[in-house]
Amino acid sequence: MKIVIVGGTGLIGSKLVNQLREHKQEVVAASPKTGVNSLTGDGLADALKGAAVVVDVTNSPSWGDAAVLNFFETSTRNLLAYERTAGVRHHVALSVVGTERLLESGFFRAKLAQENLIKSSPIPYSIVRATQFFEFVKSIGDFSTEGNKVRLPPALIQPMAADDVASAVGRVAMGSPLNGTVEIGGPERFRLDQLIRLDLAARKDPREVITDPQGRYYGIQVAEKALIPGDDARLGERRFENWLSQTTQIPNPHLQPA
Ligand SMILES: NC(=O)c1ccc[n+]([C@@H]2O[C@H](COP(=O)([O-])OP(=O)(O)OC[C@H]3O[C@@H](n4cnc5c(N)ncnc54)[C@H](OP(=O)(O)O)[C@@H]3O)[C@@H](O)[C@H]2O)c1
Repeated sequence: MKIVIVGGTGLIGSKLVNQLREHKQEVVAASPKTGVNSLTGDGLADALKGAAVVVDVTNSPSWGDAAVLNFFETSTRNLLAYERTAGVRHHVALSVVGTERLLESGFFRAKLAQENLIKSSPIPYSIVRATQFFEFVKSIGDFSTEGNKVRLPPALIQPMAADDVASAVGRVAMGSPLNGTVEIGGPERFRLDQLIRLDLAARKDPREVITDPQGRYYGIQVAEKALIPGDDARLGERRFENWLSQTTQIPNPHLQPA
């Protein structure tokens, strides 16, 4: 079974490519770096020839409202059109838990547009909505920083490791189309302010986190439960604090092999 990973050179895409190859699948990593562009259509027909499954884990290089909407709409339309011609039997896309609750942000309006295009296409599909990746937790704090203070609301958040995202997406890609949406998340819930405090402390970052109900998440207001998945979500195994201690470990030269 040939599986094309569009965005196969990105954070999730590259992990997905490796994991599927370990399962002996025929995998093609498609992205501008490998000569395939879902915005312009360049290289798509060749990449999709003989493919049974296409997984879309692309992201827009620019996050301005108009640019991101144009990216997800144009790229998704192109993918679905080329997939029809190639006879692809399953389109899988990675989206975000709570997208419809975060529409103050142009990024989430674009993700919703992507989901709606997929749902209205005749190609059987699965949409996987993931919670925030551990790898992006630091940037949440950075976005809400002014001077030495990070102002954040105590909203709930259930982040997950990119490795667990890739495993969950891989399982969906190897299964039958759901013609629906599945949610995935991490094993533990945190408060956003508490999570960023943990992250900064592990990085020995002196910034102070202020709990502020009016504080923003990537510039938008979030309700207490806006970011967390429902009770049916499939949960990853990796825990944030384990991941954090591995990520922030300062290499000790005395422990290096000679
Ligand atoms: N961040 C989160 O916490 C979070 C949570 C849930 C869901 N998601 C979703 O997860 C998805 C993947 O995120 P990520 O962090 O893995 O992305 P990423 O590391 O930024 O990778 C983006 C990928 O998209 C490719 N790409 C960019 N422009 C393209 C084009 N015109 N044609 C084809 N491919 C193109 C890039 O290719 P090149 O390497 O060649 O440039 C790269 O492979 C996104 O859709 C995001 O919405 C994110």
